[in-house]
Amino acid sequence: MKRILFSLLLVASQLVSRADEGMWMPLLLSQNYAEMQRLGLKLTPEQIYDINKSSLKDAIVNFGGCTAEMISDKGLLLTNHHCGFDAISKLSTVGNNILMNGFMAGNQAEELPCPGVTVKFLVRIEDVTEKVRNFIGKAYGKEVETKFDEISKAITKTANEENTYESDVKSFYAGNKYFLFVYQKFTDVRLVATPPESLGKFGGDTDNWMWPRHTCDFSMFRIYCNNDNKPAAYSANNRPFVPKHHLPVSLKGVKENDYTMIMGYPGRTTRYLTSYGVDLATNVSNPALVKIRDKRLSIMREDMGNDMAVELQYASAYARLANYWKYFLGQTEQLKNLRILEKKQQEEEAFNNWAQDNNKDLKNVMPDYQKAYAEYSPYAKHATFFTEAFLASSLTKIALSFDNIEKAIKAGVSDDSLETLCKKVIANRKSTLANTYLPLDKKVFAALNLMYYQDVTKSQHPSVFNDIFENYGSDDWKKTFDDFTNDLYENTALLDSEKFMNLCNAEHIEKLMKDPAIHYALNVMHNYKDNYEAKINEFSYEMFDLNRSYQGGLLEKNKNKLMYPDANSTMRVTYGKVCAYSPKDAVSFKYYTLADGLLEKYKAGDREFDLPANVVDLLKNKDFGAYADKELGSLVTCFITNNDITGGNSGSPVINANGELIGCAFDGNWEAMSGDVAFDTRFKRTICADTRYIMWVVDKVLKGHHLLDEMNVIK
Ligand code: ARG
Repeated sequence: MKRILFSLLLVASQLVSRADEGMWMPLLLSQNYAEMQRLGLKLTPEQIYDINKSSLKDAIVNFGGCTAEMISDKGLLLTNHHCGFDAISKLSTVGNNILMNGFMAGNQAEELPCPGVTVKFLVRIEDVTEKVRNFIGKAYGKEVETKFDEISKAITKTANEENTYESDVKSFYAGNKYFLFVYQKFTDVRLVATPPESLGKFGGDTDNWMWPRHTCDFSMFRIYCNNDNKPAAYSANNRPFVPKHHLPVSLKGVKENDYTMIMGYPGRTTRYLTSYGVDLATNVSNPALVKIRDKRLSIMREDMGNDMAVELQYASAYARLANYWKYFLGQTEQLKNLRILEKKQQEEEAFNNWAQDNNKDLKNVMPDYQKAYAEYSPYAKHATFFTEAFLASSLTKIALSFDNIEKAIKAGVSDDSLETLCKKVIANRKSTLANTYLPLDKKVFAALNLMYYQDVTKSQHPSVFNDIFENYGSDDWKKTFDDFTNDLYENTALLDSEKFMNLCNAEHIEKLMKDPAIHYALNVMHNYKDNYEAKINEFSYEMFDLNRSYQGGLLEKNKNKLMYPDANSTMRVTYGKVCAYSPKDAVSFKYYTLADGLLEKYKAGDREFDLPANVVDLLKNKDFGAYADKELGSLVTCFITNNDITGGNSGSPVINANGELIGCAFDGNWEAMSGDVAFDTRFKRTICADTRYIMWVVDKVLKGHHLLDEMNVIK
């Protein structure tokens, strides 16, 4: 059976396939194989993906939404610093600031458990298109979702019963194909090593999403398991996991045009987004999100800079918000610069013309898109403000958790059930407050609710805005919202532990429900959910149906070409080469950066460009040891390739023609920020930390010689 499949795929490989653009499914890689070989690949398809024998896929894991790779036979993994960031900041205290100072466990006993961090290995992939599509039949809209949930539960149940695995069914090409993914999930994961933040996040948000780059964006963790090499909850008795495959670490360096392959878990792309979607993103959703986050981040910075405890409390949330603040800023800019809207319009016209002649069922797809967007667009801004602005404060989150209690009271449930719900709210409040600095939260609340008031169309406002103006009204709207917020934070029982604990029980809950914060939050929420969410959901179901038709039509129209599916957090392979580029007329960027650039950018005491004294010394003395590039006479820090990656690929291995690790992918570049919507071959690059840079930091900065001994380092 396998043999037949393989020869069929070899026929497919006569089809046109190309490097750079494309996030290909490892199961179907034979179709790209000829092109991969032409570019220099020395491995067989089975060495990349095989479900019986060990292959590269066994070294690549999903690290809580990022990617990581196994680099030793003792469960050691490499990922990005920004992927380990949340765990690292949680392990840090003012007195023992691992985030700031970096960390290297001297031995396995010193490695730090990271509760909540999980690692998933892919066991196998199976095409279940027929099963799922037969079950869904001619359903459309919400019914597709319901039926999909039902059939995927049945499929995953059987997959899980066979063994102790965890699995899910994923839609490809917007519901034209379906595949089952079976994983093995580990939960005892421990921090082994991290550079100081000044190296791991060197350049901060200024350099983020930019080339040339000098960030040493890596961290290392170890997977622990039971005596049978199987997943187990944390225990001091667990032992390091032995993976089926781990990557040799090459210190041989890269040259322009070298073959590069990246395997990992890209999260989401929308390469088939229509011109209507591009228009809405460019003019409505992206600017709204950027404006809200601009404000929120500047408020956060004020308090973070003044107090290390607050800094650590908010470091991870800040980094996450800032990363996508800049992402959407860049996406908007490049959607315009690269004229993506016009390109999409041309593609749509071609599709439309093809449909008229070849598939009459699809002739209304484009007009229907236009209609759906026209109906949805008056609410799009409100949707962004609801999630980004209204839900931004902890007080709002706590208040909203009373939604279930409100429903329960209306339904007249028993005191026992109410008591259970109260316990949930109490637990939620406790964990939310642990991550909150109230003076900061209050400023965010006041500023973002004011912005919600000012920016969301007046006819869509909740009634509680009238109450606010009745009580606090002034010509200065900022003053109105400040006064309202001050009173609210002062008087709400939600922020007064004693009052709260006295009231949050079945006996007193009706009284607590009259709390001003609960009243406010539920009013804004109801206005949104009762009046607008239905319209927004309707739009998403309509998009689902249209996308399925559009992408199904494209598969038919392009049947002589290979067409890769949008990213969906499943394992993909992208292949290409080390590749320089020109960002604009008369300017050219090299494909690599050197340690010399670290010193050029270095600014003592700066939030983003500082460096530890010992690193400055090593750099000044050019103490690069065996890690220096002989021809360049310096240490190569980062390099770029033309591989096709996106968020979720962070931490992915950059693999050479022989299956060795040459870098760790960590970012994209500014000129191609619209890349998730449309791939531009001229500009789209992947930014990678060179393994020599990473190993130099492990060796010279962190003194982790024992780790180097543990890896299979190829000089
Ligand atoms: N842009 C990178 C990515 O999304 C994350 C970089 C994190 N650094 C930062 N300064 N926020 O993969």
